[in-house]
Amino acid sequence: MKIMVTGGSGQLGRAFASHAESFADQMVLLSSSDMNVTIPHQVNSIFSQIRPDVVIHAGAYTKVDAAETAPQEAFKINVIGTRNIAVACLNYNSKMVYLSSDYVFDGQQTRPYTEFDRTNPLNVYGSSKWEGEIIAARICPKLFIIRTSWLYGDGHNFVRTILKLAQEREFLAIVNDQTGTPTYTVDLVQGIMSLIATDGYGTYHMSNSGYCTWYDFATEILRLAGRPTIVHPITSDEYVTAAKRPRYSVLRNYMLELSGLDNFRYWQEALAEYLKHSGMFAGDV
Ligand SMILES: NC(=O)c1ccc[n+]([C@@H]2O[C@H](COP(=O)([O-])OP(=O)(O)OC[C@H]3O[C@@H](n4cnc5c(N)ncnc54)[C@H](OP(=O)(O)O)[C@@H]3O)[C@@H](O)[C@H]2O)c1
Repeated sequence: MKIMVTGGSGQLGRAFASHAESFADQMVLLSSSDMNVTIPHQVNSIFSQIRPDVVIHAGAYTKVDAAETAPQEAFKINVIGTRNIAVACLNYNSKMVYLSSDYVFDGQQTRPYTEFDRTNPLNVYGSSKWEGEIIAARICPKLFIIRTSWLYGDGHNFVRTILKLAQEREFLAIVNDQTGTPTYTVDLVQGIMSLIATDGYGTYHMSNSGYCTWYDFATEILRLAGRPTIVHPITSDEYVTAAKRPRYSVLRNYMLELSGLDNFRYWQEALAEYLKHSGMFAGDV
């Protein structure tokens, strides 16, 4: 199986590089300078050279707050770019995996969101990811839409930010009224790899098990890393961001459950492994 990954230099792309090569006969990781997904002739030229069996479309505009003042850029990359990839997948008969987000939901629910719940994004980034889902589904018949949440792995992420801030400050103030599920990129890669071997096309939620607030997440990061930093819980109103975020965006991996494929472990276990792997683990779980 020949797999091509867009966003190859991003967090998820790096996890594919380090954890999926054994599954694939050939893995091609592309950064935006190798192939800018918004330029159709570049996309076409790369597809004609590589002729991938599967395309993991992880490349995206991911700056949630910046998107509020750059909606055109976000929509160009996340919708037009996704359309270009979907058209090429159609033309080259490739399976397509489109990465989407828990931010397609508005957070009004009080139970975990399944794939069958109504979407209603609150911000530009979420809207662009949702429109990306729609356009890909209109074009590409061999499509897996994978919604995930609160990703961390090799790259810039919340875990690294918290550990950096803990070195600089005695206490941190972290939002305690947004609930979701942190997801380790390595676990997500395994989930995706087990799915793409099948023809079970459709929309899937893929997050680690359990849920927490950002405050809970920060507290657990510091506990496992053995940092004494004090964490104060605050509200979203006390930490104003450009983009509005859902208060509750826990994803239930319902389609995986129905298919007997939900092997995602609890987020605390995955976090401990990530910290061990990154040499940042101090505690015992
Ligand atoms: N991070 C999260 O918490 C989260 C949560 C839910 C869903 N997701 C989704 O999961 C996917 C992977 O996220 P991530 O955290 O790995 O993202 P990331 O680390 O921010 O990486 C994004 C990648 O997109 C590439 N990219 C940007 N513009 C591009 C363009 N015009 N053409 C081609 N590539 C372009 C970037 O490439 P260069 O660096 O080479 O420019 C970068 O490698 C994304 O689709 C994201 O929307 C992420």
